[in-house]
Amino acid sequence: MSTRPTLCVLISGNGSNLQAIIDRIADGSLQARIGCVISNRPNAYGLERAREAGIDAHCLDHQKFDDRESYDIALKALIEQYQPDCVVLAGFMRILTADFVDHFSGKLVNIHPSLLPKYKGLNTHQRAIDNGDREHGVSVHFVTPELDGGPVIIQSKVPVFDGDSAVDLAARVQEQERQLYPFVLNWICSGRLKMKDNKAVLDNEELPVSGFESD
Ligand code: GAR
Repeated sequence: MSTRPTLCVLISGNGSNLQAIIDRIADGSLQARIGCVISNRPNAYGLERAREAGIDAHCLDHQKFDDRESYDIALKALIEQYQPDCVVLAGFMRILTADFVDHFSGKLVNIHPSLLPKYKGLNTHQRAIDNGDREHGVSVHFVTPELDGGPVIIQSKVPVFDGDSAVDLAARVQEQERQLYPFVLNWICSGRLKMKDNKAVLDNEELPVSGFESD
């Protein structure tokens, strides 16, 4: 039985962030294990990535539930079977109930493709282009009941070039995501990073509102 911290990774699609986490665990740079991967969509490619890596992969199809509350209760029960130290939202495209978020408070992290607090919600790349932004990026944050509003842990910026499409920009952002998420998970798994009083705290120091080492 492993004593390494256990992650549960929640996905809805491709799972490139999941793959980065699997790869960093495999090469020893992330000291953790993935207890299970859960998707709310049956056809998520990330489920195949998980099975390929020998990880328990579950589909909990949201379409089979009457409402958000009943879905989140089932999701919570499934996750709890694995007693995770951290619940990792990696492209999990659902709004979570406050009950669910409160239950996992301090253990629940998300990666969001914008420089929060800019562009909460969907279509972040197109919105950055439409606004004429010259820089865009990604944030990792603790999850609180406010959508995409929890304390930021770290951000990474990318340039926006003339003529970029949303697809171009997404690819540039996702390259950063794959490095950033395993890096942050190491802080959590080693006990260095916590959420206290709605703030991200690293090595007992409160991080600034835009997270670690942002300029
Ligand atoms: C990632 O770009 C992630 O930032 C985004 O979904 C993508 C999932 O990619 N998440 C959100 O938009 C959450 N609001 P992946 O399935 O290849 O990891």
